Amino acid sequence: MGGQQGAIGVFDSDIGGLSVLKALRAEMPQERFIYWADSGYAPYGERSDDLVVARSHDITEQLLAKGPLKAVVVACNTATALAIQHLRDEHPEVAFFGVEPAVKPAAAHSQTHRVGVMATPATLGSDKFVYLLQSLEGQAEFVLQPCEGLADAIEQQWLDGKDAPVKALCEKYVSAMGAFGRQAGQIDTLVLGCTHYPFALPLLRSLVGENVTILETGEPV
Ligand code: DGL
Repeated sequence: MGGQQGAIGVFDSDIGGLSVLKALRAEMPQERFIYWADSGYAPYGERSDDLVVARSHDITEQLLAKGPLKAVVVACNTATALAIQHLRDEHPEVAFFGVEPAVKPAAAHSQTHRVGVMATPATLGSDKFVYLLQSLEGQAEFVLQPCEGLADAIEQQWLDGKDAPVKALCEKYVSAMGAFGRQAGQIDTLVLGCTHYPFALPLLRSLVGENVTILETGEPV
């Protein structure tokens, strides 16, 4: 385990983690990656906590069975929120890296102190995320938007090219968050708290405007 010759395992419920893998490959072109898309069980964000924990365990076991790994990247906000602590407890010999919505950098960056957060219902409802927000109390006001169906619609668009459902959901969720911009009371920073959402970046950008900072988690990982 943990040998220097090993690959880096990366997993997500499906294609979302590819947005993280892209950043990892750009940063570490010499490394070998094994990507696991758990398509049969997506979307994690709308499944039970127990299922996401069980799947995360199973995938980790299967990745480890492929040979020594340098690390496992949980390229999914939902699985990180629900399962990473279990994985670390179960496999103390493995280095696990997770992703979480970039609310800390967003709070530090926002000038209006109003930050939008788009994520799956499971991520926003998780204890881990609630503690994270509590640690930032007083630093910014967070407008939390559970985006039911969006990861699935992005997935579907990847398969059949139809963008209407993604467009409709993005319009609905962005307008539910309120006004975006740099004036007082407006959201000037938007956090994409699901690794699927960067695939809708051009659309989200067109909806919130050029002045709004959009943060995702691929590069920080
Ligand atoms: N891409 C995942 C995330 O970052 C999960 C999306 C889903 O399967 O619901 O939360």
